[in-house]
This record gives sequence, C-alpha cells and structure tokens, in this order.
Amino acid sequence: MSDDADLLKLAAATRPHDPKDAPHYPFNPPLPFAEDALEPLMSAATVRVQRAMHQQYARLLNAALERHPHLQGVSVESIVRRAGELPALERALIHDAAAGHANHQFFWKILKPGGNGGAGPEGRLAAHIARDFGSVEELKRRFNAMALGLPGPGWAYLSVDPANGALALDALAGNGSIMDLGKPGVMICDMWEHAYLLDHGPDRAGWLDAFWQLVDWEVIGKRLELFYGGGTHA
Ligand SMILES: [Fe+2]
Repeated sequence: MSDDADLLKLAAATRPHDPKDAPHYPFNPPLPFAEDALEPLMSAATVRVQRAMHQQYARLLNAALERHPHLQGVSVESIVRRAGELPALERALIHDAAAGHANHQFFWKILKPGGNGGAGPEGRLAAHIARDFGSVEELKRRFNAMALGLPGPGWAYLSVDPANGALALDALAGNGSIMDLGKPGVMICDMWEHAYLLDHGPDRAGWLDAFWQLVDWEVIGKRLELFYGGGTHA
C-alpha cells in the first residue's frame, strides 16, 4: 500500500463509525453509569460528545495498528508506554489516540453521579492531601489554577510522585499522558473544550466547580492505595 493510501485510510478512520471497522478497540467502551446520570452537573449531551471523542480514538487505533499487529489488542495504557517502539512517522498519532482513549477511561472511573454526596476524602488520601496541600480546599485551589493555566485543550492530573510518595499536580497539553511522566495517576480532569462548552460555554472555572461535585473520592483513595500495594485496580 502506498503512503498516500495509508494516509487516506487514517483519514477515513476519523469518520463516523462503520460497523465493518476493525474490532480491536471497542467503539462503545461501557460507561459505569447512564448517559444522563451526571445531570445537571454534566449533561447527557456532553457525555455523548465525550463518548464520540473516545470512540474516535478507538477508530484511529484500530486503523493505525493494522500495520502493527503485535500491538493489536494490548491495553491502551501499554500502547502509551510502548509508543517509542513505533516508527517515528506514526508515533505521535498512535500515542495521541491511545492516551486519549486511556485518559477518557480514567476520567469515567473517577466520576460518580452525585459525587460522594458531599463527603470528602478519607483515610490515607485525606492524610496525604493534608500533608501535601494543607487542606482539600487548597488542593482544589491549586488544581484549578493549574488547569485554568492550560493555554488550550489538555488534561489536569493529581498523581503520586514515585520518588517520594508526595501527591503531585500536572497539567498536560493535548492528550498528554501522566504515564509518560512515570507517575501513577489518581485523579484526572478533562480540560478539552468538548468537556465544558455545551454546559458552561467558555466558563472553564464553572466546569471545574461541577467537576469537584462529581469526583468519587472513594475511587481516588483506592487508586492511591494501589501505589502502596493495597487493593485492586479501581
Ligand atoms: Fe474528552
């Protein structure tokens, strides 16, 4: 196949779902809740747009990995980590699609309809937030300032610095992955326009207010415990 044909095939992968497309990465990754379960903080329309983005990354991966069968079907997290094995010409595209896919999976896991009903973090997570930020409110303030500092689309993370166990904040542009920094991610916030434009217009701070009301501190705490060897993957 010529280079032009390859590029046309990749371009075709961005078009709406064709049931004949390759199946390695499912087009409808399951949501852990109903599409309208996050309303009114996140509308069903926004959830559908988010899922369309997630599905587009699956389409891109399925098309691009036809030329790299040894990576077909491995986890998207593994593809992010192993992107360096790929030819330079395709590395950025495949890393972007795999990270975009992985980030959305991560994002759905740390959201919960109604959040924790107003309850905050507990146990080790609460202790480490107090140790590293002083309070939950200060964590939110710093996280929001960092997320709002992104000059364009990106993702905001709370993670663990493996060097010293400290909780860390990172904002990565585009589909940057916290895995590239070698930090286990415990929380993630989507700061792409599709995450907030329908519900909040350009008010990204309004989106962050809604986000904090949806986060599942219990799952975030379980993800922190993984770093210390406890529990199963949340
Ligand atoms: Fe998104």
